[in-house]
This record gives sequence, structure tokens and C-alpha cells, in this order.
Amino acid sequence: MAEEIKLNSSKLGTQEYWNEFYERELQNFQSNSDDTGECWFDDSDAESKMIQFIADKLEEGEFAKDISFLDLGTGNGHLLFELSQELKEVDDINFTFHGIDYSAESVAFAKDIANKKFPGFSFKFDQIDLLTDTPFLENKFDVLLDKGTLDAIALNQDLINGKRGMDIYAKQVSKMMQKGSILLITSCNFTENELIKVITSETELTEWDQIQYPSFQFGGVQGSTVVSIAFIK
Ligand SMILES: C[S@@+](CC[C@H](N)C(=O)[O-])C[C@H]1O[C@@H](n2cnc3c(N)ncnc32)[C@H](O)[C@@H]1O
Repeated sequence: MAEEIKLNSSKLGTQEYWNEFYERELQNFQSNSDDTGECWFDDSDAESKMIQFIADKLEEGEFAKDISFLDLGTGNGHLLFELSQELKEVDDINFTFHGIDYSAESVAFAKDIANKKFPGFSFKFDQIDLLTDTPFLENKFDVLLDKGTLDAIALNQDLINGKRGMDIYAKQVSKMMQKGSILLITSCNFTENELIKVITSETELTEWDQIQYPSFQFGGVQGSTVVSIAFIK
């Protein structure tokens, strides 16, 4: 059961933290338009690996039709912006890019970047708490992305209807998926086995594929600092 996995609480698990964080980043961007803010897991090259993973699957014919992307906890929207640039030469498939975040400041920031830097592209950003905003969860998407959002959720031990956020995350996200939808998660707080357990133990999701990172050996145990796993419904 996912309940066995315990992480400590941290300010990174609170909405106040992210509101202040993105308010500051928005101000920085407004005074210097080259500063689009923090790119999480940059040192592991996670963002480009996630984008390459999607591009490869596309080329292998894994996605047969038009693709709707949903970035869960989009922050500055960087992952969606970069993904749109990678896919802009693909002309036989339509893509839609939607980012959600519970921080209003994140949404304002991502929208500002979209308007100023990507005027010809269509992005949608909405303020949504994916753990509680039930009407939104009825939307279905083909590819769902999470870079660091489950990690942030897991750093909050507050209970929602008697359960921790990390224990309801998978069920909530699964509601936004249809048969064949993919959820690609990058995490630095969970090991591969923990992440698989958290996502698959109470949903119809199964592991689909993973991204490889350079690994290290410590105390006889093989590991890497981040994991990216794709799940399919
Ligand atoms: C570590 S940041 C990652 C941001 C972005 N994915 C990136 O890679 O730059 C975690 C993000 O999750 C968002 N977040 C945390 N809990 C959330 C929730 N329950 N619903 C929606 N967004 C959430 C935070 O506001 C923050 O933008």
C-alpha cells in the first residue's frame, strides 16, 4: 500500500510557498524577459528527456491521432513551451497544450510568458487544484505530464477526506485519463518501486515505459537521483 511510504512535511508542500515563489518569478520576468524562472530537475536534464521520450513515441507510431497534453502543476509552463517547439514541425497531427496549477501566480506567470514569447501558439492555463477540483477532473487528456508536482504534493501531510494528497493523487489523475492515455511522471522523492506503487496500487494504471538516467551504486543498491516513469490506463 502507498500508505507505507512516508515523507516529511516541507514548505514546498504548501500553496503559500508556491504563490510567493511564482509571484517573485513573475516580477523577475517582468523586469527581465530572458528570465523565465526555475526549470526543475535541470541538472538531470529531465525536461529534455521527457520531451525526447514523447517525440520518440510519436515517431514509433504509439500515438495514432491528435494529442491533448495536460501538464499537472505546470509552474512556469516551461515544459509545455519546450514541448510545443519540439513538435511544431509535425504537421499531420494536431496538438493542444493545457497547463493547470493550484497557484494563481503560477498561472499568471505562465500566461504572461505565453503571450510575450509564444504569441503564435495556443496554450491554455487554468488555476486548478488537482486534488480537489472535481468538475475539471471530468476532462480527458491523451498525455499527462508531471515534473515535480507529485513530489511537492507528497511533502504535505495534511489530510483531505482522511487521506494524504499523495494517496489520492493517482485516483484523481486517472479520472482525467481515458483508455490508452499516458501519464509521464518525473520524481526525485520516490524510488522507482515506490512511484510504481503509489500510481498503480489503487488505479487501472500500469507501468508502460521509463526514461533511463545515469545510475549510481550505493551500499550495493543501484539508483539514480530522478526517475521518470510512464504509465498507461
Ligand atoms: C516543483 S514545482 C514544479 C513545477 C513545474 N512542473 C516545473 O517542472 O517547473 C511543483 C508545482 O506543483 C504545483 N502544485 C502543487 N500541488 C498542487 C495541486 N494540488 N494542484 C495543482 N498544482 C499543484 C505547485 O504550485 C508547483 O507549481
